[in-house]
Amino acid sequence: MSNNHLMNTYSQWPVTFISGEGAYLKDDKGDAYLDFVGGIAVNALGYKHEGLAAVIREVLDSGVLHVSNLYYNAHVLEAAKKLAALSGMEKVFFCNSGAEANEAALKLTRKWGSGKNKSTIISMLDSFHGRTYAAVTATGQKKYHRHFAPLPPGFVYAHFNDLDSVKALVDERTCAIIVEPIQGEGGIVPATKEFLHGLRDLCDRHELLLIYDEVQCGMGRSGKPFAHQLYGVKPDILTTAKALAGGVPAGAMLAQGEASDVFVPGDHASTFGGNALAARAIIYMCDTLQEKAFLSHVEAMGRYLRMKLEELKVQFPNLITAVRGVGLINGIALTIPPKEVVAKCFEKKLLLASAGSNVVRFVPPLIITEKEIDAAVKILQESLSEVRS
Ligand SMILES: Cc1ncc(COP(=O)(O)O)c(C=O)c1O
Repeated sequence: MSNNHLMNTYSQWPVTFISGEGAYLKDDKGDAYLDFVGGIAVNALGYKHEGLAAVIREVLDSGVLHVSNLYYNAHVLEAAKKLAALSGMEKVFFCNSGAEANEAALKLTRKWGSGKNKSTIISMLDSFHGRTYAAVTATGQKKYHRHFAPLPPGFVYAHFNDLDSVKALVDERTCAIIVEPIQGEGGIVPATKEFLHGLRDLCDRHELLLIYDEVQCGMGRSGKPFAHQLYGVKPDILTTAKALAGGVPAGAMLAQGEASDVFVPGDHASTFGGNALAARAIIYMCDTLQEKAFLSHVEAMGRYLRMKLEELKVQFPNLITAVRGVGLINGIALTIPPKEVVAKCFEKKLLLASAGSNVVRFVPPLIITEKEIDAAVKILQESLSEVRS
């Protein structure tokens, strides 16, 4: 079918997927693709997941997908309770996407800072926080700012994993620091333990709010419910989306302590946020992430994938310079444009995506198996051999 009416915002591969099962997608010609993109870290439970489908069906059968936030729906309170328990935070604001979750977080910090004359937000270079105006301004990558001036004021940028560069920016106007515990779009770069602990300390000493953006690395992808739980250091505000409802669009901004009580009715809202469909799917995802075996599987598959990628690094030292990642958010840094490798793999029916300027990223469904990892690595190996020759 010709594409005359979708706005030209994406570079899309010439394929239309019409069905899926487990970690495989099938196109309209009947070809199966092994999926290591997972809807960009969204489809944590893969495709045609019986349990998730059953709860979604239940909501459809109830006849009530949506009632607005003028009323409660049957699932939103339980979704908030379970997400708070999973993350160790106190209060939840539901929205529909990662950018919206960050937008809510940034608005909350600005309100919190307004009485104290604090409004500056420090974010990290090479970060990614979404495409709405405040979120894209917090995103520390110039290429996403180009063409969109004037951007909202009050954002400054430090170097990721360089605490001194953050300290140098803190002054009496600073109100918050926003950081991804694992940078995703920037090239799959985990924060160091010293960095996250150092940021917490800095926020405590200067009375700043610390925001973790776990839109991509949260909801089980790191092998913990939330990646910061690997580091043992908590934020004041946590944002998440992508896998939050297993493919149903959903986002959340969570807060603890003083930050929990900043918003009052009228300050912020979302028509769709926490609707019955999304909330029920969120409950299902939270229940899944309470299962130790599920998270152990993520850890084990992540270790196995990194071991295989390290073997490829030895085999292709001129192409692969680093293997990075945690759980099932991983990447290989390349000496050539990642798109060349992604394109070769696509021809061979393996779906991969790039991250940053030189990284191929692996964010498969969390239910991926060793056999599927072997199949993916074999295709990757063939593709690397071909791009080299
Ligand atoms: C860390 C991070 N934050 C925010 C976003 C924006 O999320 P969304 O595309 O749902 O607005 C993304 C999307 O890739 C992300 O990776």
